Amino acid sequence: MSERNGTVVCPGSYDPVTNGHIDIITRTSNVFDRVVVGVVNNPVRKQKTLFTAEERKAFIEEATADLPNVEVQIFANLLVEFARDNEARSIVKGLRAISDFEYEFEMAQLNRKLDPGIESIYVIASPHYSFLSSTGVKEMATFGGDVSDLVPPAVAAALGDRLDDR
Ligand code: PNS
Repeated sequence: MSERNGTVVCPGSYDPVTNGHIDIITRTSNVFDRVVVGVVNNPVRKQKTLFTAEERKAFIEEATADLPNVEVQIFANLLVEFARDNEARSIVKGLRAISDFEYEFEMAQLNRKLDPGIESIYVIASPHYSFLSSTGVKEMATFGGDVSDLVPPAVAAALGDRLDDR
């Protein structure tokens, strides 16, 4: 029997990916055979994204290039359908503080109702990333704060350019 656990999907908006996301993806890649990072095309509950889905996907691909069992796809359908399309029986998401819990609790229950055969699994954020969010990074960068140790280098550069353009 495999010591690992087949295919898993790691979904998110990733607008943009942070070092906290990369930490969760890396740790997940240590326990699953294949990790499919799912970049949602248009997040329903959020405003327009700063980066296109293709840009968000490219940032993750670059930052995970050293992880051979990680791939990145864009999806625009239900998460459980995306998981089934990839023959994944698990969804992994990161969990930071208590503030994440209510939203993730709802998502896990909705996804379980849609497909009870797909398990939602939560990986607790590493302490040094427990405060980190894409929204916080965008806010810091907007006001000229240094985000270089919070996001991959390509994201830090692109944030500067994109926010200058606005
Ligand atoms: O990084 P986020 O914004 O927390 O990611 C949200 C995501 C992509 C996990 C969520 O928006 C999602 O699953 N979207 C696809 C539609 C769906 O299946 N929604 C949940 C059940 S209704």
